[in-house]
Amino acid sequence: MPEQPGAAVSSDIFSGQAGDADLLAAIYDLEHDPFAEDIGFYRRLIRRSRGPLLDLGCGSGRLFRAFLDGGAASIHGVDGSPALIRRAEGRISADSVLAAAAEAGRIQLTTTDVRRPPTGRWRWIMAVGVLPHLDGPEAALQMLAAATGRLQPTGRLVLDDIGPGGLPDRDLPLSTDWERALDGRSVIRRSQLDRREAPDGLSLDYLTVTDAVRPDGTIARLPARFRLWYPSLSVLEGLLDEAGLAVELTYGSHDLEPLTGESDRRIVIAMRGHERRSRRTTRLAPGRCER
Ligand SMILES: C[S@@+](CC[C@H](N)C(=O)[O-])C[C@H]1O[C@@H](n2cnc3c(N)ncnc32)[C@H](O)[C@@H]1O
Repeated sequence: MPEQPGAAVSSDIFSGQAGDADLLAAIYDLEHDPFAEDIGFYRRLIRRSRGPLLDLGCGSGRLFRAFLDGGAASIHGVDGSPALIRRAEGRISADSVLAAAAEAGRIQLTTTDVRRPPTGRWRWIMAVGVLPHLDGPEAALQMLAAATGRLQPTGRLVLDDIGPGGLPDRDLPLSTDWERALDGRSVIRRSQLDRREAPDGLSLDYLTVTDAVRPDGTIARLPARFRLWYPSLSVLEGLLDEAGLAVELTYGSHDLEPLTGESDRRIVIAMRGHERRSRRTTRLAPGRCER
């Protein structure tokens, strides 16, 4: 998939990292694919209104099946990493439901920066785990403002990130996170995390060192560094307001628990500001999500 003109290099999380981007993307899936606790939440959310959906920072399309199963009319996945978009293409071909939807023109992929999404109007715009990758308020505002312009009048933007209770309260020394198998090879992930609190939120310097054992027993060591930014809720609300959006609902988990200072997730559902003033809100029924 060609990079759209004007897309910034920094939109590719693997650019500037040592090592083969396709291997890094495979390791990325190894780490993220087991995370499935949000699948039922998204299926159920989309059932509220089955329109077209834009998945900002779709990665390898982990959530595509949940969106389709929920009844999304179409999915446009956008990511800055060409290697992850290639893996999304692979995921689509390997899943008969996704493949049939793609064949019918209901799934599209574009490699571009989430701050410059394709033109169009969507009922749902999803940004799951993406906002923290944008390096602070300016870039976050660019993504939010672009999303506002692409929402249908009754559309909703969903921001879903680690909540205050899931963020580290101290620096974390280098330690082993997991060891998993990839194509019969052993992969070991270690990470170290340095945190910096600022008035606009928490910045994390996240260093990962991934060792992939090659078939001949030698080790490919893949160090990578990510800067992540978690705005406080009040800063996020201010950015949403500046972007012409207003918070409709918040949740502190995919089981629809209320958002508190201890919540593991921070799920924010936003709508266009002028809609907020003229519409009643409809809550998802509280309780556990279906799986
Ligand atoms: C934590 S992953 C989440 C992937 C997917 N939403 C999911 O939940 O499985 C963050 C994704 O955002 C993408 N990303 C980060 N910054 C981006 C940017 N500026 N433009 C486009 N994609 C970006 C990364 O490539 C990565 O796929």
